Amino acid sequence: MLVQDLADAGLDGVELMIEHRLPLTAKRADVILAGIGHGGEDRYVIVELKQWSSAELFEDDPHLVLVPGMRGGPKLHPALQANTYRDYLLDFTEGLQSSQVDSIAYLHYAQDGDVFDLLGDTGAAPTRMFTASRRGELLKYLASVFAPISGAAAADRLEAARIRPTKQLLRHAAPVLKGRDHFVLLDEQRLAFELVRHAVEKARRADHKTVVIVTGGPGSGKSVIALSLLADMAARGYAAVHATGSKSFTETMRRYAARGSTRTKNLFKYFNSFMKATPNDLDVLINDEAHRIRETSANRYTRAEDRSGRRQLDELISAARVPVFLLDEHQIVRPGELGTVGDIRAHAIARGLDVHEVELDAQYRCGGSRLYENWVLGLLELGGRQPEAWFGDENFTVETVGTPHALESRLSLHLDGDYSARMTAGYCWKWSKPKTDGTLVHDVEIGDWSRPWNVNGDRSVGTAPPSALWATHEGGFGQVGCVYTAQGFEYDYNGVIIGPDLIYRNGRLTTDRAANRDPAITKKVTDAEAYRLIRNTYKVLLTRGLRGTILYSSDPETQDYLASLMRTRAEPRAA
Ligand SMILES: Nc1ncnc2c1ncn2[C@@H]1O[C@H](COP(=O)(O)OP(=O)(O)OP(=O)(O)O)[C@@H](O)[C@H]1O
Ligand SMILES: [Mg+2]
Repeated sequence: MLVQDLADAGLDGVELMIEHRLPLTAKRADVILAGIGHGGEDRYVIVELKQWSSAELFEDDPHLVLVPGMRGGPKLHPALQANTYRDYLLDFTEGLQSSQVDSIAYLHYAQDGDVFDLLGDTGAAPTRMFTASRRGELLKYLASVFAPISGAAAADRLEAARIRPTKQLLRHAAPVLKGRDHFVLLDEQRLAFELVRHAVEKARRADHKTVVIVTGGPGSGKSVIALSLLADMAARGYAAVHATGSKSFTETMRRYAARGSTRTKNLFKYFNSFMKATPNDLDVLINDEAHRIRETSANRYTRAEDRSGRRQLDELISAARVPVFLLDEHQIVRPGELGTVGDIRAHAIARGLDVHEVELDAQYRCGGSRLYENWVLGLLELGGRQPEAWFGDENFTVETVGTPHALESRLSLHLDGDYSARMTAGYCWKWSKPKTDGTLVHDVEIGDWSRPWNVNGDRSVGTAPPSALWATHEGGFGQVGCVYTAQGFEYDYNGVIIGPDLIYRNGRLTTDRAANRDPAITKKVTDAEAYRLIRNTYKVLLTRGLRGTILYSSDPETQDYLASLMRTRAEPRAA
C-alpha cells in the first residue's frame, strides 16, 4: 500500500526500509522511507502504520488513545509513538540532523470521521497524521520531502551510520534529575510514562487514585522510566518519591543522582519507609524493583508497638494517589519477596482502584540483543523455553572460558580497554566477615584460584568499596559480586561463575540446592521454590552485561556443556 502511494506520488525510487531495527535495541520501526531531498540531502520518513478502523482519545488526553476491540487499555497516540522513534533514532545516530528526519503515523484503514479525535495537536510537532481520507495530502507531503530519484544510497548511509554509545542509567542520572538531559523513552516506555502523568493529573483534578503496573525483563528500561518519571514529576512541582527494596540500588541512586544534594537524596527511599505515611500525601510513589516487595515492612529492628502486621503493598498503595510499580516477576531471588503483578492488581482492585498495566517488550541492555535474552531464558529453562546453541549476535559477545584465571584475565583486558567489568557468582561459597587485620577472606575458592565476595556492609574494606557501590566503584573488580549486590546494575562485560548449585547432569541443567550457601535458600523454602530462586538468580547474573558475557562453571561437566553450546568464537577484542 505504501508502495502504491509512493508510485502514485511519482516516487518509485524512494527506498522502503521495512522493520528497520533501531540502534541498541531489538525494537523495529514499521517502515523507514529513505530518499534524497530536493536540496540533495538524505531524507528519512519514519512511518508508523496502524490498521485501526476507528479510535478515540482516552479521557481527553491528547497523548493517549482507546481503540475499540483492542485489549490492554489505552495506547500511545500513534503520532507520539512515531515521534518517539524519530527522537530515539536522532539521539543515537551520529551525524543525523533533525531536519533530515520526519515521522508520520498512517491510519490507512480509517477515515477522518472514524478517528477525528486523534487529529488534533499532540504536541509532537514534527510528526504528521494521515488517514485513508487524507491520501491525497500524503502523496503531496511525500512529494514535498523527496525528489523523484533513487533513495538507495540514502538507505545505505543510514544502515552504515555510526551509532552513539549506550546511555547508561547511572551515568546520566544526575543530569536527568537536574533537567539537563533526558532519555528518549521509546514506544511502551513512553506509554507507561504518559499513563502515569495522566493518572497524576487526574488525581489532582478529582479525588482519584490509580495504580500503574509496568512489567518488563532485565534491561527493558524499567529503571530508566522510574528515573525519568521522578525527574519530570519533580520538575512539575508534584510530590514524587522513588523507592526500592534494594539497599544497593537506593544507595547508589542517592549517590549518583543526588550528588550530595540532601533535597534530592530525600527523593530516594525504601519500600519500608512508608509504615506511618499519611495516606495520599504523595502525588506519585515510583516503586522500582517492585518484585522485591515483602510481606510486611517490619524487620528485626522494628519496635513492638510499630508491628501492625500491615502488608507492605498496602502501605505503598496508600502512600500516594498514583502508586507505580515497575517489576520483573522472574527476578524474585529470595523467599519472602512477593511482588507479583497478580498480587498488586488484586490488591488494587479490592480497594476499588483503577489499574493500568504496561508490558515492556524491548531489550536495551545486552547490546539490545533479544537473541541473548532468549538464549539465557532457554539455558535456564525459564518462560517455557529450551536450551539452544549460541550462534552469536553482532551486538553482544558470549564466550566460555575453562578456568577462573582466564575469566578474570579476559575481564581485566576489557578493564584496561576502558570498559567496565565485574565478576559474579552463584551463592555457593560461604561469606565470611572481614579479618581483624582489615582484609577480606577469599571465600570464593576454585582450585588454586580464590577471591573474596563483595564487601557485605556500608564501609569499604581497604580498596574494596561498600556493597552498595561494588557495581559502580572501580575498586569493585577484585571481589566477586553476589546476586543481591548485582541486581538492578549493569557493566560492559559480565563474568559469571556458575557454581555447583546449577549443574549439567543426564542431558540437562539441574539445580542442587544442597550446594547453595544462601541461608535464605537452604533453610526456608521448598524444593520447588529453591529450583525457581536459583534459576532466577542466574538469570539476573547473566543479564548484567552491556556488551558481553563470559561464562565459567566450576563443575567440569557443566563447563563442557556450556562450551558445547558456543557455535561461534567470540571475536578477540582489541584492548
Ligand atoms: N529509552 C532508552 N534510551 C536509551 N537507553 C535506554 C533506554 N531504555 C533503557 N536504556 C538503557 O538500557 C539499559 C537497561 O535499562 P534499565 O536499567 O532501566 O533496565 P531495567 O528494566 O531496569 O533492568 P533490570 O530489570 O535489570 O533492573 C540501561 O543502560 C539504560 O540506560
Ligand atoms: Mg532496573
